[in-house]
Amino acid sequence: MVNMNIQASADAQVTRAAYAKINLYLDVTACREDGFHELLTVMHSISLHDDVTVRLSLGAARDIRLQVRGARLPLDSKNLAYRAADAFFAKAGKNGAVQIHIHKRLPIAAGLAGGSSDAAAVLLAMNELAGYPLRQDELLSLGATLGSDVPFCMVGGTQICRGRGEEMRPLACGAPLYIVLANGREWVSTPRAFAAMDDYYHRFDGSVPHGGRPERLYRAMADGRLHTAADAVYNAFEPVILPSCPAATALRAQLLSLGAYAACMSGSGPSVFGLFHTLSQARHAAAAIGPQARVATSAPTSL
Ligand code: C5P
Repeated sequence: MVNMNIQASADAQVTRAAYAKINLYLDVTACREDGFHELLTVMHSISLHDDVTVRLSLGAARDIRLQVRGARLPLDSKNLAYRAADAFFAKAGKNGAVQIHIHKRLPIAAGLAGGSSDAAAVLLAMNELAGYPLRQDELLSLGATLGSDVPFCMVGGTQICRGRGEEMRPLACGAPLYIVLANGREWVSTPRAFAAMDDYYHRFDGSVPHGGRPERLYRAMADGRLHTAADAVYNAFEPVILPSCPAATALRAQLLSLGAYAACMSGSGPSVFGLFHTLSQARHAAAAIGPQARVATSAPTSL
């Protein structure tokens, strides 16, 4: 596993960039017996990231310490990054002292998989520091036990994801995207968003009114001409979530009026993103929106 974003040092410490993702396409295709939903989604890693530093010394006793800068988050097993460290020890059959430091830059509960990405970074860093006791497939299935987006966050790039989100197929991305991400300080809980989705579509049985055209999106992505399939950028959560998020609704409209060829909500929201033809157009739009907006481009694949 080669990663250009890793800095390893002699005192067994690794710092990884934990990238955010956006969903260029997100459809919920069925309810499952286990309470989860079947998804068809295109996830795309973007350059905005948290920094996750992990220091590990293997030993007899298990000691997990978590520090977070930039946000007020739980520092115990309520935090997914903490649970990732615990799960890694258990699966690898190892113990020791691990110190995790997260410099949080991504908004929380925003549809960007920030928490999942931090957990993914912890798993990858601990595996590296412990001398790779787990194979890549073992790490990915361990990630899936922690959260539906964790496997994607471990691999990154652009992937067509199915199942809960953990079944991935890489999608060619012919050209980098120029993105403005906007977040109006609204929060959405993922389980509540899925419950609201069930209500909205009347506890659907596979007969959800699908609005998307994923094949057009796949082709346009591969050709590096996503703007030719702008109307294929789609999120089935939008009509469920946006009516109760006025800031996100206004930001989405503003992105379009500032020249985005497509604007959409990411994940279960409420972050919204706009896609622009050039980096300079994206920068102008972000400047016009102000501190709620940030410019991003496509991020590299992690694994
Ligand atoms: O997997 P994760 O912990 O991120 O999921 C959080 C919640 O989102 C789940 O408990 C479930 O309510 C909902 N969810 C779902 N279907 C998915 C992913 C998440 O219903 N594919």
